[in-house]
Amino acid sequence: MKKLFISFEGIEGSGKSTQAEKLYKWLNSEGYDCIFTKEPGGTEISKKIRNILLDKENTELAELAELFLYLADRAQHIKEVIEPALFDGKIVITDRFFDSTIAYQGKGREISEEQIRTMNEIATDGISPNLTILIDIFPKKGLKRIKCKDRMELESEDFYKRVRQEYLKIADENPNRVKVFNGVLSPEEIEKDIRKVIKPLLERIK
Ligand code: TMP
Repeated sequence: MKKLFISFEGIEGSGKSTQAEKLYKWLNSEGYDCIFTKEPGGTEISKKIRNILLDKENTELAELAELFLYLADRAQHIKEVIEPALFDGKIVITDRFFDSTIAYQGKGREISEEQIRTMNEIATDGISPNLTILIDIFPKKGLKRIKCKDRMELESEDFYKRVRQEYLKIADENPNRVKVFNGVLSPEEIEKDIRKVIKPLLERIK
């Protein structure tokens, strides 16, 4: 059986988590063996890493320490959840994956993208999504939708502008893998558009 691994990406308030969950529920209702997971926090150990990363008290967290924590979260996630599920022939949907690190730590924090790519390759064991759904939204609009802010969400609008630009660049450079959806549309419209992209992939794995 061919593997299907789908990641959702986007800045805060883009609606990507809502869409990831909608897709998961739909695939399940259609009878597909599917798991829904996320980064950071997709395993018990990863939840502890997530707490460190998003705790507003951790104002002293160094940028490189932040990077390594996201990578550690990913390495654990791959070993414990993603790799075994793909091996079992399941469809894997993850809310965030390696593009988040390139966009947030690479462009947001301005850490060398080349180094991040190398480290991502190690953390993921070379596993890459077949499809990445990027929900695009202007930072001003996305940030307005957030009620309770975590450590990352305290960043400036400029930070999020850089992250968004990087996401769009990644999409430009990887047109076969990354599909961009307009986050301003209604959740129902976005869901419908996402299904259109997914359907041919489902044919492929039958
Ligand atoms: P979430 O709000 O989608 O759960 O994501 C948590 C935060 O972590 C969000 O601000 C994006 C950030 N993040 C990174 O900065 N780098 C990464 O590699 C990942 C996976 C998330």
